[in-house]
Amino acid sequence: MATTSSAATSSTGFEVPWVEKYRPTKVADVVGNIDAVSRLQVIAKDGNMPNIILAGPPGTGKTTSILALANELLGPNFKEAVLELNASDDRGIDVVRNKIKMFAQKKVTLPGGKHKIIILDEADSMTSGAQQALRRTMEIYSNSTRFALACNTSSKIIEPIQSRCALVRFSRLSDQEILGRLMVVVEAEKVPYVPEGLEAIIFTADGDMRQALNNLQATYSGFQFVNQESVFKVCDQPHPLYVKKMVENVLDGKFDDACAGLKQLYDLGYSPTDIITTIFRIMKNYDMPEYLKLEFLKETGFAHMRICDGVGSLLQLCGLLAKLALARETAKAV
Ligand SMILES: Nc1ncnc2c1ncn2[C@@H]1O[C@H](COP(=O)(O)OP(=O)(O)O)[C@@H](O)[C@H]1O
Ligand SMILES: [Mg+2]
Repeated sequence: MATTSSAATSSTGFEVPWVEKYRPTKVADVVGNIDAVSRLQVIAKDGNMPNIILAGPPGTGKTTSILALANELLGPNFKEAVLELNASDDRGIDVVRNKIKMFAQKKVTLPGGKHKIIILDEADSMTSGAQQALRRTMEIYSNSTRFALACNTSSKIIEPIQSRCALVRFSRLSDQEILGRLMVVVEAEKVPYVPEGLEAIIFTADGDMRQALNNLQATYSGFQFVNQESVFKVCDQPHPLYVKKMVENVLDGKFDDACAGLKQLYDLGYSPTDIITTIFRIMKNYDMPEYLKLEFLKETGFAHMRICDGVGSLLQLCGLLAKLALARETAKAV
């Protein structure tokens, strides 16, 4: 590894983050969420954008899609005709009243049928007061200005705004979709890898493309090589193989071994939340009888809830293993 490091450092040194470098600039290039993306493509073609809300988990292409859409709609006028505000900007009532209103009133000459666009990224972090102030603005300037809101949960957007917008839903990307994109980047950046390394990245990303690309870049700049070990070191997540072994031990009736494995992870300093989310993700894809899997997931869910409530002791996690072991006994008896 040491032999390649000097060459690799110079190429990764102060590079732009890959998430930015490989951000699709056209709606058509956004991976996955076919329904959502094709709806946006239709809008791009029509040229007439309604007010829209893009809702879905992080790292699935919401911001990317809005920017690409605005770009396709407005082209060279983008700079003048787009106002972009995200969570790091102040977006209290005053800003909505002043900045947004001023922009909505601003005269920009656009080709027929086009509108100015106000992008409110992470709109679910806006206070409801600010959202209330927004709804009037939305209506008054609707013939010159359109709004595009992105958020994680649409329910945090007040009803009156929701009812004025078309809702476009995004969901987590599939492993295949993430893999496809990773391959593009890996080849473009000439990253040395083994397939298990990419698998590990996909596992840690859990449907979040931003995380996948960031983890890929972090692993590459840290180790110049992408394999399982390096990925889990960089991502600082419990190694799934250990967790898998733990579940396997429970299923084999080796409760003590399972607990020992758990303690090992705990002693390595992983938080109970990290451990239990990994347990959940392993379990989801584990090959076991369906009835048992459902019981296991249920118990894991309850344990997760208690951990979120603040009781994240080793005892709590051991208790989970005990519940799982019991579920297995009951399943055997049936
Ligand atoms: N569907 C996707 N297709 C291709 N790249 C994506 C996709 N989703 C996210 N990315 C990558 O992740 C980065 C962050 O995506 P972004 O659109 O900002 O996510 P969010 O849904 O959280 O707004 C982008 O710069 C891009 O590189
Ligand atoms: Mg975003």
